[in-house]
Amino acid sequence: MPIFLDTGNIKEIEKYLKMGIIRGVTTNPTILLKEGVTGGMRGVRARSIEIARLIGPLPLSVEVTTNDPLQMRSQAQELAALAPNINVKITIHGPNGELQNLEVIHELEEQRNIRVNATAMMSAQQCLLAAMAGATYVSLFGGRVANMGYNPCEEITRLRKVLDNFNLKAKIIIGSTREVLNIIEWLGAGAHFVTVVPNLLEGMIVHPYSKETVRQFLNDAAKIETQMEVEHLFPTEKRNGNKAGVIITPSKEKLVIREHKAQV
Ligand code: E4P
Repeated sequence: MPIFLDTGNIKEIEKYLKMGIIRGVTTNPTILLKEGVTGGMRGVRARSIEIARLIGPLPLSVEVTTNDPLQMRSQAQELAALAPNINVKITIHGPNGELQNLEVIHELEEQRNIRVNATAMMSAQQCLLAAMAGATYVSLFGGRVANMGYNPCEEITRLRKVLDNFNLKAKIIIGSTREVLNIIEWLGAGAHFVTVVPNLLEGMIVHPYSKETVRQFLNDAAKIETQMEVEHLFPTEKRNGNKAGVIITPSKEKLVIREHKAQV
C-alpha cells in the first residue's frame, strides 16, 4: 500500500482517489497555506474534516500548528476527534531543538490512544527514537536529506532494518518528493509509504513514449475501422466481382475502389 498523496487540494485528492492509486493523504501547515487555508485552527479543522470524509477510511495526517507542549496535546486531541481516520503530526523536536516533543508523542500514543505521525525528520536515528516513543508513522524528508548531500536510500534501508529487527510497529513514510525517480527508489530501499506531490504522481503515470505508442495504436485502429468499412461496403468477394465505386470513410477520407481483375 505504498502511495500517499502529499496535498491539501480537494480536486487533486478526488482525481487520484477515483483512480484507486492512493492509500492516504498527508498535509502540513505549509501545504495547507499553499492551498488557501486561513483562519488558524478553525481553517485547519474545516479542511481536515473535508479531506477525512472524502478519503475515509484511508488515513489523513494533519499537523499541529504550535510547539507549545500543552497546546500540542489539546490540538492533537481536537484533531483526532474530528474523524477516526485522522492521525496527528508532531515534529521530532521544537524549532530550537526543544526535546519535549517525544514526550508528547509518547503520551498521545500510549495514554490518549491518538495515532501520531512523527515528522520533520532527517535521519534514521531520529525516526528510531520516535518509533520507540510509540509513533504509528515516522516521516523522513527524503528530498531535504538529499538536499543536504546525504543519500536518503541509505537512511531508509538502515531505518527499515532497525525497525524490523526490533519489531517496532512504526511505518516509514518518506516525504519531500522532488522527482519521479524518488518514489520507486525509496520504496525499493524499504519505505512503507512515499507521500507524493500530485504533479509527480502524474509524472509516474504519463510517459512520452506511451503517448506515442497509444497514438500509433489509435491511428491504426482508425485504419482498421476504415478497412472494415470498405469490407462492409465492398466485401472482398464483391470487390473481386470487380464492382467499382466511391465511398466516404468515417474520417471523411474519399476512397475510390478502382476496377481491377483479381490475379488468380
Ligand atoms: C510530508 O509529510 C511532508 O510534510 C512533506 O512531504 C514535506 O515536503 P517538503 O520538504 O517539500 O516541504
